[in-house]
Amino acid sequence: MQQSVSVLGVFCVGGQVAVMDLYEGLLQRVSQPVLNGDGPDFDTLKACIQAAICAPDHRALQPWRFVLVRDSARIRLAELYRASQKSLHPEYREAELDRLAQQPLRAPVLVFSVAIVRPDAPVPEREQWLSCGAATQNLILALQAHGWDSIWRTGALAEDPAVRSALRLLAYEHVAAVVYTGHCSHPRRVERPDAAGFLEEWL
Ligand SMILES: Cc1cc2nc3c(=O)[nH]c(=O)nc-3n(C[C@H](O)[C@H](O)[C@H](O)COP(=O)(O)O)c2cc1C
Repeated sequence: MQQSVSVLGVFCVGGQVAVMDLYEGLLQRVSQPVLNGDGPDFDTLKACIQAAICAPDHRALQPWRFVLVRDSARIRLAELYRASQKSLHPEYREAELDRLAQQPLRAPVLVFSVAIVRPDAPVPEREQWLSCGAATQNLILALQAHGWDSIWRTGALAEDPAVRSALRLLAYEHVAAVVYTGHCSHPRRVERPDAAGFLEEWL
C-alpha cells in the first residue's frame, strides 16, 4: 500500500519551490527505531531503490545491491540468526538469544543494503563503501518522500556468517546497512546542533 507523498517527494519536478521542499525534508529526517504497520509495498520499494541507485558512483561501478526481507522471510531470518548466534556464542543465555532473534522483527520490511567492494576495482575500496552509503541514504530519503519512517542499523545481524550465507553474499560483499522501514506512531524528535560548529573556511 503506497502512502501519501510528503514534501520531500516533490523534489524531482525542479524549480525553486521544489528545492525548498527537498531542503525541508532533509532537515526533518529523523531515524525511528520503533516501526510497525504493513510496510511499503514492492512497487514503492522499487521506486525507492531507483532513487538509491542515483547516488554518486565513481567509474559507475554500481557497488551496491539490495535484498528485501519481509513477511514470513523475517521469521525465517530470525530463526537462522538465533541458531547461528547460539553456535557462535555457546555462553549466551536463552534470553540473550531471544533478544537477538527479535532484531529482524523490529519492522515490517527490512532492506539489506549490500556494498560490493571489489579489491581490484579502478577506485579505492573506501569510495565503493561510500557510494553504497550514499545509495543507502538516498533510499532512506526516498522512503521518507513516500511517507515511510526508517532507521539504518548494522550490528551483529549485518556481520553474522549464517545471515551472510543466506543472503548469498560473496567474500567481497558486505552488509553496509539494514534499513528497517514501516510506520512510527510516536516519532522521535531531534534537536540538531548549529551548522556553524561544523563549517570552517580555509583562507
Ligand atoms: C553506518 C551506520 C550504522 C549504524 N548502525 C546502527 C545500529 O546497529 N543500531 C542503531 O541503533 N543505530 C545505528 N546507527 C544509527 C542510526 O541509524 C541513527 O542515525 C542514530 O540513531 C541517530 O538518529 P538520527 O539518524 O535521527 O540522528 C547506524 C548509523 C550508521 C550511519
